[in-house]
Amino acid sequence: MTERTLVLVKPDGVARKLVGEVVSRIERKGLGLVALDLRTVDRELAAQHYAEHDGKPFFEELLSFITSGPVLAAVVEGPRAIAAWRQIAGGTDPVEKATPGSIRGDLALETGSNLVHGSDSPESADREIKLWFPNL
Ligand code: CMP
Repeated sequence: MTERTLVLVKPDGVARKLVGEVVSRIERKGLGLVALDLRTVDRELAAQHYAEHDGKPFFEELLSFITSGPVLAAVVEGPRAIAAWRQIAGGTDPVEKATPGSIRGDLALETGSNLVHGSDSPESADREIKLWFPNL
């Protein structure tokens, strides 16, 4: 079944010039790009994006990190795109969870700066795509 998911290359990934690496892995997997936008996000969008983490001890850290520099936002499409992208990205903790061969497993060390984001369910994908790309 064709699905869409929201992908972010976070400020650490853009600063480390890994945008091409991430897009290349998406395309090599066979997924397609529907929308791409490099932008710096404000606190309001960041807080809405991370609403489920509101109240957690790392929430403020999360907001200041994601607003600290440009991010690449993308809508990615393909069969089982949500799970496929999560496989490419690797688990949230780049050392304990992400496996070698994944973006986080190969290229990141810290949970707080783990390079990329992906929607975790069809409901999240729908919500996040509407939030980041309201005109799509
Ligand atoms: P992401 O997939 O963008 O969704 C929520 C983010 O919170 C997650 O990636 C991590 O970068 C971040 N995160 C999760 N747990 C922690 C933590 N304990 N400390 C700092 N950041 C965290």
